[in-house]
Amino acid sequence: MAKKERWASRLGLVLAMAGNAVGLGNFLRFPAQAAANGGGAFLIPYLVALLVMGVPLIWVEWAMGRYGGQFGHHSTPGIFDSIGRRPYWKYIGVFGLWSNLIIAAFYLYIESWTLAYAGYSLLGGFETTSAGAFFDRITGNFPNSIWAFSVPGLVMFALCIIINIFILSRGLAAGIELVSKIGMPLLIVFAIIIAIRGLLIVPGVEPITDQARAAAGFGIIDPQAVASPFEGLRFLWEPKFDSLANPAVWLAAAGQIFFTLSIGMGSIHCYASYLREQDDIALTGSTAAWTNEFCEVILGGSILLPIAVAYLGLSQVQEMTAGGSGFGIGFMTFPTLFQKWGVLAPVAGFLWFGLLFFAAITSSLAMGQPIMSFFQTEFGLSRSKSALAFGAMLLPFAAPVAFLAQGSFFDEFDYWAGTFALVVLATAEAVLFAWIFGMDRAWAEIGKGAEMRVPRPFYYIIKYVTPTFLILILVAYTFQPAGRMEVTDGVTLQKKLVEKGWTPYITGWFGKEPIPKWEWSPSGMIGKLLYRDLALQKQD
Ligand code: PHE
Ligand code: NA
Repeated sequence: MAKKERWASRLGLVLAMAGNAVGLGNFLRFPAQAAANGGGAFLIPYLVALLVMGVPLIWVEWAMGRYGGQFGHHSTPGIFDSIGRRPYWKYIGVFGLWSNLIIAAFYLYIESWTLAYAGYSLLGGFETTSAGAFFDRITGNFPNSIWAFSVPGLVMFALCIIINIFILSRGLAAGIELVSKIGMPLLIVFAIIIAIRGLLIVPGVEPITDQARAAAGFGIIDPQAVASPFEGLRFLWEPKFDSLANPAVWLAAAGQIFFTLSIGMGSIHCYASYLREQDDIALTGSTAAWTNEFCEVILGGSILLPIAVAYLGLSQVQEMTAGGSGFGIGFMTFPTLFQKWGVLAPVAGFLWFGLLFFAAITSSLAMGQPIMSFFQTEFGLSRSKSALAFGAMLLPFAAPVAFLAQGSFFDEFDYWAGTFALVVLATAEAVLFAWIFGMDRAWAEIGKGAEMRVPRPFYYIIKYVTPTFLILILVAYTFQPAGRMEVTDGVTLQKKLVEKGWTPYITGWFGKEPIPKWEWSPSGMIGKLLYRDLALQKQD
């Protein structure tokens, strides 16, 4: 076996971990989830979830990863095994592989769009092609079919997977770490440029033409409705207390915290397992987490909503993000709007999709590495063989993503792998670390080599509050929205809803409708699928 791999530098480690966390979730999912859940009303549950689950679980995952790494384990099953010392823990740990694999399949697909869009923007493609037409060109569009693919789209997807496998095969320091050192600073610079230019938009002075509007597929714009971009900021950042009693908002906020910090996926376990025993995790872990929060609340918050509000007005923007998805605005609306940006117009699209690409690739690598490490450490495969094994395992999941219409499965993937499985794994690890390993040992692990004292209240938060919260969330999942109608599941349903005048969302990945009423369904998650069928029937 190859000699023990390590991160080459502290800075590289922080950037790799921040790159892991900062992803499409920060720039597309966060603003849309916030808008769909009442803007500033989302922020309070979000910050509470950050403090009682996000930050504590970051420390827990870093500590577990570093601990397992000392026994030569670099993926969740092995790490759980080194802590749990009961055979079943390693099987629970397998969640930490599957979630990554399944999320990676559709994440890489979207990553390939950002790559295609960045290239096309740079070539000036959107001066003549509408974003909608380009979207159809790369995702394929056969009316009334569950199939959706195109040759250029498949090529880009394959290219993207190959790039990821290649980077992974170069090893930690020469691969992920190097890409993060280049990608993270660029991403932040690009985001700052876009955000500043966006906040300088003078509403009404740069109106969008009816033609551009039609091309981008958004509705009639009421000139009275367009507002200052700062209205978008205010909507997002001004705390509102009116939804604190709404469980749907809490669930959405907790879900976003998980997704954005990459918690409960096994990805952080893996990265942290390449630390040395005495490396600090208290300060380094929080630095990576706060970098993600900066890139989410500040940067992510200053782009999608303010720009869209300045051109379209808040109500139209709320309508477009009602499903919690930022895809429509990010991929369909922005390339059109950027054409109005004067000197920046030729590069604005490149900056936007470039930043999305860097955000995405440093995250998709973080999904691939645990699977790769699993093959390396548990089966003794070489680095390149392990990277290829990741590619091979990806195929059965990438195939439906590549060939089927997004509406038919994105929502399922996102729900099972991107939402539910994360909470299961996080609950398991919180119990394992705080209760089975033991809170005193866990606390000592977190504090080992620490360059910052973790405030004592976190001892109790990790022991009691975090697991309680997690269990509450699992219970909440067994409640189903009563008579809920899924807007985004299934091409047919989508079409029917369009006919009925609903806003057409591009995809179901981020597509969750605001939920009206709740009822307990003992069948839990299964109920969710049933409801979709009911919704389908209701439409007939
Ligand atoms: N945290 C990433 C984002 O915000 C997503 C991610 C999930 C990254 C799983 C790594 C592992 O987009
Ligand atoms: Na993130």
